[in-house]
Amino acid sequence: MEKLIVHGGQPLKGRVTISGSKNSALPILAATLLTKDTCTIRRVPDLSDTNYMVRILGELGAEVERASGVVVVTANKIKSKAPYDLVRKMRASICVLGPLTGRLRKASVSLPGGCIIGDRPVDLHLRGLEALGASVQVEGGDILVSATRANFKGRTLNLMGKHGSTVLGTDNIMMAATLAKGTTIIEGAAAEPEVEDLANFLIKMGAKIEGAGTNRITIEGVKELHGAEHTVIPDRIEAGTFLVAGAMIGDGVTLKQVIPEHLRAVTTALADCGFKMEITKDSITIYPNPNARGFSLTTHPYPGFPTDMQAQFCALACVIPDSSTITETIFPQRFMHIAEMKRMGAQMTLQGATAHIRGGTPLKSAPVMASDLRASATLVLAGLIAEGQTEIHRLYHIDRGYEHLDDKFAALGAKMERTKE
Ligand code: EPU
Repeated sequence: MEKLIVHGGQPLKGRVTISGSKNSALPILAATLLTKDTCTIRRVPDLSDTNYMVRILGELGAEVERASGVVVVTANKIKSKAPYDLVRKMRASICVLGPLTGRLRKASVSLPGGCIIGDRPVDLHLRGLEALGASVQVEGGDILVSATRANFKGRTLNLMGKHGSTVLGTDNIMMAATLAKGTTIIEGAAAEPEVEDLANFLIKMGAKIEGAGTNRITIEGVKELHGAEHTVIPDRIEAGTFLVAGAMIGDGVTLKQVIPEHLRAVTTALADCGFKMEITKDSITIYPNPNARGFSLTTHPYPGFPTDMQAQFCALACVIPDSSTITETIFPQRFMHIAEMKRMGAQMTLQGATAHIRGGTPLKSAPVMASDLRASATLVLAGLIAEGQTEIHRLYHIDRGYEHLDDKFAALGAKMERTKE
């Protein structure tokens, strides 16, 4: 196991190129199972999560080659059972369920277990597959889906849950429906850019999909899909994390190869605090502001303020000499970073699903423990502004979702190094 040592207080300046989106790449890789032909996916970030997905595709029988951001998959003959040992390591492996059901009318995938950010059920995924006519059972910890050619049919269904729609649930049903008979209409669909990116890839494969990127997606089933090439969109959450770093301790940080539209909720929140940004069609530069104002934010599904940026904004609130609040509505228990940041002297309290932060008190380094992915990135942000050396343990959480995070920060002038525990 590795840990990261962050030497605080070094201002960040310069340019950073944003990687391909983890949350786009994972379902897009899974979608290659929908065809026997070869698919080429570019700008796949080098992460442990994408490595797991590549291994799952291999275990399912696909031939996979991977070289510097390009993954080539040929899923000529595939099996319907995803191996428990790999699936249990990554919740997002649930997104092979839709493609396996669409192509084979049969799937067996382990039910994902609990997760540090909350309960994370998959009932909406299963309800969606049942609405399409599949029979779904859970046996021995596995989700077993089966359907026949005749009864797997397009329907109108609704994927809205009590915390909003479901991103991977929408992905799963959209993928399965591409090969169902007739027309599927997904009401209450997730409108995240990653869902739209997946739809764009499926359309290149021959799928007939309209409305992706809105809350109503229409899919007209086709007999088969063919191979296609696709480049994954930039990672808006990685970009948002660097923007927050630039606001906290930057002296002019430029993000390159981003889609600013996907970051609008984040850039609006930063602008409301008083941070100046220059935005072009594919770059954003952020400047510091010692007189920034506190904020009051609530997470919502896209285009609202993303839950995946909630933790990073808690770190930002620490440098703004004002009071801020942030309320989590998607994963109300996603506050593991609070206790760790308090160890560094952060003035934070949690009331229900709302964090209250009193900024302006300097943070001091302490050994801290990474928990979920975004909480871990937040500890790096806290380390960047803290006095002394912050040791972040369980670094593997960061490697799940940030491509070469330490190298990218080092290129901006941060001082940090990885060492063995
Ligand atoms: N939900 C249900 N039933 C379901 C599915 C979801 O009640 O069947 C609830 C969840 O418990 C949650 C809400 O619906 O309250 C939204 O969950 P969603 O299904 O949208 O989450 P997900 O698809 O499993 C993706 C991202 C997450 C991101 C969420 C929300 C991937 C691989 N993961 O998860 O990303 O937080 O959408 O935007 O795309 C991350 O990258 O750090 C991360 C956790």
